[in-house]
Amino acid sequence: MSAFVYLSNLLQDRYVASVMPTSRLAVEKICSRIDLESVRVVIEYGPGTGVFTRALLRRMRPEARLVAIERNEALSNLLRRNCRDTRLQVYTDCAGKILDIARRSGAGQADCVLSGIPFSFLPPATRAELLRNTYRILRKGGKFLAYQTFYQPPGHLRVPVRELFPSVRIGFAVLSVPPLLFIEATK
Ligand SMILES: C[S@@+](CC[C@H](N)C(=O)[O-])C[C@H]1O[C@@H](n2cnc3c(N)ncnc32)[C@H](O)[C@@H]1O
Repeated sequence: MSAFVYLSNLLQDRYVASVMPTSRLAVEKICSRIDLESVRVVIEYGPGTGVFTRALLRRMRPEARLVAIERNEALSNLLRRNCRDTRLQVYTDCAGKILDIARRSGAGQADCVLSGIPFSFLPPATRAELLRNTYRILRKGGKFLAYQTFYQPPGHLRVPVRELFPSVRIGFAVLSVPPLLFIEATK
């Protein structure tokens, strides 16, 4: 069902950038890098059908908040319908609007920004601005976690992230289909 949803949306919107949701193993591995028992605010870029969204909500505390930003209208509507949780706010918009959305949501600074969007599709200036705004919305010590497939252009995300964040680590979820690389940057 999810693969069908991705494929049909991908045919109309190349920014969907995937033919299937991230596999359970990769979701677990990447989520294990977030201290979900103590986070107050998490922001998710590109939740798609919500495989990460649900995994995050399962472990977040009752008073924590999750702000999800999904640019594809059909996917964001699906997520709103299928993931009813008072801690979740879904915005149909581009991650580039993060500062405005954070202000409107009243969530304040984030403990973690988790991203699945295809950064390589963004023009370099847009990518740089989104990264700067992501840095601004994180509290000190907050984490930016961005996962993507191995076959992305090398360095297009790692290099600008290293210019902004004092601590950057690269991780892999090789058993996932397709295999994923993730960047873990701490402010
Ligand atoms: C590779 S899919 C990942 C979906 C899901 N997080 C997963 O792991 O299965 C990328 C998602 O990001 C969304 N997206 C792409 N560019 C975006 C942007 N600039 N802002 C917000 N969402 C975006 C797409 O519509 C799609 O749902």
